[in-house]
Amino acid sequence: MPLTIRSAVPEDEPGVVELWRACGLVASYNDPAADFRFAKAGACSDVLVGEDEAGRISGSVMVGHDGHRGWLYYVASAPHARGNGIGRHMVQAAEEWLRQRGVVKAQLLVRETNTKVVSFYEQLGFEVAPRVVMGKWLDKPE
Ligand SMILES: CC(C)(COP(=O)(O)OP(=O)(O)OC[C@H]1O[C@@H](n2cnc3c(N)ncnc32)[C@H](O)[C@@H]1OP(=O)(O)O)[C@@H](O)C(=O)NCCC(=O)NCCS
Repeated sequence: MPLTIRSAVPEDEPGVVELWRACGLVASYNDPAADFRFAKAGACSDVLVGEDEAGRISGSVMVGHDGHRGWLYYVASAPHARGNGIGRHMVQAAEEWLRQRGVVKAQLLVRETNTKVVSFYEQLGFEVAPRVVMGKWLDKPE
């Protein structure tokens, strides 16, 4: 499937949010539009989109680094287009984005309810890392 991967522009926001919702990636405590804008505004983060031949946004990845490791979020492939390499291309585009910035390791979190996606990442060279992830809300959303 021909796919054009590019950095998202503000006009992409509704299509990207729609894709994230269709892919079940929007948690109740996340505002996806705010996430999109925050990543686009950051100096060390971006949202990459994959556009199909018809100009529809069929894939996405939010990528960024914290000055040490690279992180991927919102890896998505449109439900109607799965199994055609979109997910793989989005992950590879994020890896390239990180590589260009000197980041040597990419990491991501998989929700415990979404473990079936682990084999997708393993196909792409990721390994499960035995770590305990701890989190704290600094400003808890309503
Ligand atoms: C995970 C997701 C992005 C995969 O997208 P996709 O476009 O179908 O993936 P691809 O076609 O690029 O698949 C790449 C490889 O992974 C494999 N693969 C894809 N989904 C898989 C799955 N659920 N389990 C195991 N392998 C999988 C494919 O067979 C393919 O292998 P191949 O290169 O040997 O053919 C897509 O299913 C999705 O958007 N899911 C919902 C959102 C989500 O859970 N995102 C991850 C959050 S951590």
